Amino acid sequence: ADLAGHLDEARDEVLADAQLWADGVEVPAEKVPLDAGFHDLPDRLLADFRTNGPRSELARIKAAADRLSGEVDSVVVLGIGGSYMGARALLEACCHQYYNEVEPAMRRGRPRMYFEGNNVDNDALLDLQRLLQSRGDQWGLVCISKSGGTLETAAAFRILLHDLKASLGKDSGELAKFVIPVTGKTGKLFELSQALGCKEVFEVPDGVGGRFSVLSAVGLTPAALLGLDLERLLAGAAAMNEHFRNNGPATNIVLQYVGVCHLMEELRGCYTRVLSTWGKRLEAASLWYDQLLAESLGKHEVGALPLTVVNTRDLHSRGQQHQEGARDKLITNLIVDQPSRGAIKVGSSDLNQDGLNELAEKSIPNILAAAIEGTNLAYREANRPTADIHLPQLDEYTLGQFFQFMMLATVVEGRLIGINPYGQPGVEAYKKNMNAILRR
Ligand code: PA5
Repeated sequence: ADLAGHLDEARDEVLADAQLWADGVEVPAEKVPLDAGFHDLPDRLLADFRTNGPRSELARIKAAADRLSGEVDSVVVLGIGGSYMGARALLEACCHQYYNEVEPAMRRGRPRMYFEGNNVDNDALLDLQRLLQSRGDQWGLVCISKSGGTLETAAAFRILLHDLKASLGKDSGELAKFVIPVTGKTGKLFELSQALGCKEVFEVPDGVGGRFSVLSAVGLTPAALLGLDLERLLAGAAAMNEHFRNNGPATNIVLQYVGVCHLMEELRGCYTRVLSTWGKRLEAASLWYDQLLAESLGKHEVGALPLTVVNTRDLHSRGQQHQEGARDKLITNLIVDQPSRGAIKVGSSDLNQDGLNELAEKSIPNILAAAIEGTNLAYREANRPTADIHLPQLDEYTLGQFFQFMMLATVVEGRLIGINPYGQPGVEAYKKNMNAILRR
């Protein structure tokens, strides 16, 4: 009962932060998180779209993506951390599993998508340069950086911009047509975009921090290039907002998730939070959550350790530890109830040496369902705590719900444990050192 009361208070505080932000009330940063603007962003973008039609942010993102996608065969999306992980999650969850390899018709005529500027890796960058050059097709760049000064992304942008210019012929004067920047209102990337003459520059809104920005132009621009349904994505998130605002702890799934995680930490010492995804398509979405949780709540020597697993793959590696290792884990299953496409049966065979004819009528989803049930039973028998999150199916709408669910849960948990989820001073420390070392 105490926890339910605290969760309710935390929810009220999160809603009050969002309201203060929406009202544009100036509050000292140390008192109210500056980045509460993510909360009603989906609602605001949808309302803007309904009211302003082609002049709205959403319509402009779609138009720019349609234009670029008509002109290029591939696009390289540059960005790191919150400026990268949501786009990758969207691609892996909502597109063909071999998206970059299939024929254009199977990509609905949309460009291939590669990610760079998300690491410092000479070999990976070199291989991408070679790939783009050897293919000889037209390609474009989307550069995403809220601050505009992140070295990994900036260096990759400079290098690939140089290649793009060379591929176009240095006098073509068309460079800006093939570049879409997504950045803050000011900063180095913004200035560079102006100098390049880019006409389609999208903004990472004030008050929306990197890892909370997947439903802004940061995630929407790559999603639009992939031809995804942006309105469904935002509608899913808006529906989660509605649920969050209108339900107390007894029925509010965001508060219930936070409650379970918190109780397991407090009562059982479950400081490792495993997001156990049942399917490859959710791996990147889970890694997006890894970043959200770690960077938001890993402060002041507290904060759970997130861990992504993909099952059944990782039952053959981490599974041993989860079943019999230290009792420091809460395993949350992320389960998609319906496969998006037809179910494949095992089938019968003249070659029954594998003994599978007995299972001939079983499908891959049947095997997965048995694996989920069997794994949870084994954990239960060993007194290992689990929780389940179900997505009815995997599409833009449910992914929008998932993103918003996790972002809300993270800020509620921050309020509950007295940690400001916004900002990432620990990340800034390495950046400062790296820049100083490079300029020595
Ligand atoms: O969540 C965050 O704020 C970070 O992960 C940032 O997204 C990341 O550091 C990239 O920053 P920027 O978009 O300014 O390049």
